[in-house]
Amino acid sequence: MTTTQNLDDSAKAILASNDKGKYTVPTHGLYPYQWNWDSAFAAYGFAQYDVGRAWLELETLFSGQWDDGMVPHILFHTIDAGYFPGPDVWGGVGPIPSSGISQPPIAATMARFVYEKNPAIGADRLAPLFEKFVAWHQWFIDWRLDNGAVCITHPWEAGRDNAPDWDGAMEVLDPVGVGEYTRRDTSHVDDDMRPTKHDYDRYLWLVQQGSRLKWDQSALLEQNPFRVADPTMTFTLLRASRDLLALGKLLGKDVKSVEKHIAILEAGVQTLWNEKLGSFDSRDVRSGRWANSISNASFLCWYGGIDKPEMLERLEQIMSKVQYGVPSFNPQDAKFDSKRYWRGPVWAIMNMLIAVGMEEMGVAQGQQIRESTQRLITENGFAEYFDPIDGSPAGGDSFTWTAAVWLGWVSPSIRN
Ligand code: GLC
Repeated sequence: MTTTQNLDDSAKAILASNDKGKYTVPTHGLYPYQWNWDSAFAAYGFAQYDVGRAWLELETLFSGQWDDGMVPHILFHTIDAGYFPGPDVWGGVGPIPSSGISQPPIAATMARFVYEKNPAIGADRLAPLFEKFVAWHQWFIDWRLDNGAVCITHPWEAGRDNAPDWDGAMEVLDPVGVGEYTRRDTSHVDDDMRPTKHDYDRYLWLVQQGSRLKWDQSALLEQNPFRVADPTMTFTLLRASRDLLALGKLLGKDVKSVEKHIAILEAGVQTLWNEKLGSFDSRDVRSGRWANSISNASFLCWYGGIDKPEMLERLEQIMSKVQYGVPSFNPQDAKFDSKRYWRGPVWAIMNMLIAVGMEEMGVAQGQQIRESTQRLITENGFAEYFDPIDGSPAGGDSFTWTAAVWLGWVSPSIRN
């Protein structure tokens, strides 16, 4: 029988086995490096029983920050031939070999959770990180805004790699000259759970273009044909800015720029409201077209501090079609695929972000999402993601962020 104690122990054992000393890998094999938002979740997980280790995770992540403020989505600390595309393909220009794009900025939010676990240790560890968080957020504000909404320049940047949100913008790319390559992801996980070759050619073409331009943001702004304003980035940056404001005040720091970021982003999220769809949506900046996607990122509004009653109606509609919510894509849409990554499956991390926001804003359904996540993990383990129809585990297993979410937010032992 699986007891809560067993599951708590298993979650800690997963964090321990994915721990490389100063950083944590998402899972062995499939993802052998330090990923940005995975690491922020790892810090959150460690904070439940080892606050010092949690701070170290964030410090290592920020040791890879570029001169322009960007914090890469992957840091290649120790080269592993089992992963593609590696540092040679990316050509990152930071202090540590890295990718050239970022990921959803949840680190300041997780730092606030870590801080609150032990403010006495927290103040010392947080102070040197504060300006780094501000510089990273400023980088998004300087380079990635479209009418106040935050844009991605590569689908991997949103952390929702193959979401239907990008289909329109990906379709017009012509991956000419991308050359021959060998994927490594499909040697770890079934093909039908991963992005298609059509997508992969385009992912690589975008990487090659960024590397050729040496990741110069002004050149990318002019030349990159892929630019999509996205709810994941916009809501997470808005939320992180609110947390950074609170932390800055605690530390007695100058928070004027953070206040400006919040005002810009509060206006920006409104430009992601697709009236016809009745939902927050992604917007292709190059073509001006909506994605028409009700995704789990659409429901991050509460996490961003934005209450929107219509989103509750959308949530009820999509939850009624699945056993385990929140599906990453609308089950009533023809593109829904219950196994393929960000085109249907449930992700425990997204559930946590969505429901934490709801619970904080007093929206009762947040608790249902937490209970559903509890059932999912209790019945199916610490998978990367899950099929929302039958709950079956998918992608990689022994996943750091699923274990972290269990320890910090889902385990019944937290609320005893
Ligand atoms: C996949 C996910 C991304 C995550 C990474 C490592 O690329 O889409 O969100 O950060 O794996 O777990």
